[in-house]
Amino acid sequence: MPTNNNKIRIAIFASGRGSNAQAIYKYSLRKDSNFSVATIISNKEQAGVLSFAKSNKIPARYFGRDTFYKSDIVVDYLKENYIDMVVLAGFLWLVPGNIINLYPKSILNIHPALLPKYGGKGMYGHHVHEAVHKAGDIKSGMTIHFVNKEYDEGQMIFQAQCLIEDDASPSDIGASVLRLEHHFYPQVIDGVASRLN
Ligand code: GRF
Repeated sequence: MPTNNNKIRIAIFASGRGSNAQAIYKYSLRKDSNFSVATIISNKEQAGVLSFAKSNKIPARYFGRDTFYKSDIVVDYLKENYIDMVVLAGFLWLVPGNIINLYPKSILNIHPALLPKYGGKGMYGHHVHEAVHKAGDIKSGMTIHFVNKEYDEGQMIFQAQCLIEDDASPSDIGASVLRLEHHFYPQVIDGVASRLN
């Protein structure tokens, strides 16, 4: 699709329910936003994020493991759709090298903890909040960072924190962190998009 305005065209990669994808999409509809959601890609055929895409008429695709890791099909799809920037929002696989090479400094990820703590393989979703709870930390938060070939290790761009009440459960911690994610992720994407423009 040729671009019909000068907004940065983003592809959202997501594996789950897609609450961040929804917040990002909502922000993208603002007249003054610097980006539009050109497509949503999932590695889970039944992911809630694909239903969201369908009901909002956002182009969306499912790609399986072999397609991601053993072919250039995803790269070709991103090129054909004039994607300028990739945004991971709850995407649970490592991004393959051919995609990273295509978007140096323009793939973002969000992690539901204050990296470098509670990052790395296996640290996702409730596992993160349970670890924070078990450690008795007084604060948690979220980190937005560029993506490289390792889990959660690219250059950090932005962090926001929340205090943890004494009686907070892991799911209470998760809910506070998610509020921060929905609030800040779209704004940070917008800031990065404005620099690409
Ligand atoms: C978020 O907590 C995000 O930080 C993490 O995965 C979760 C995705 O949630 N990477 P959702 O699918 O956006 O609701």
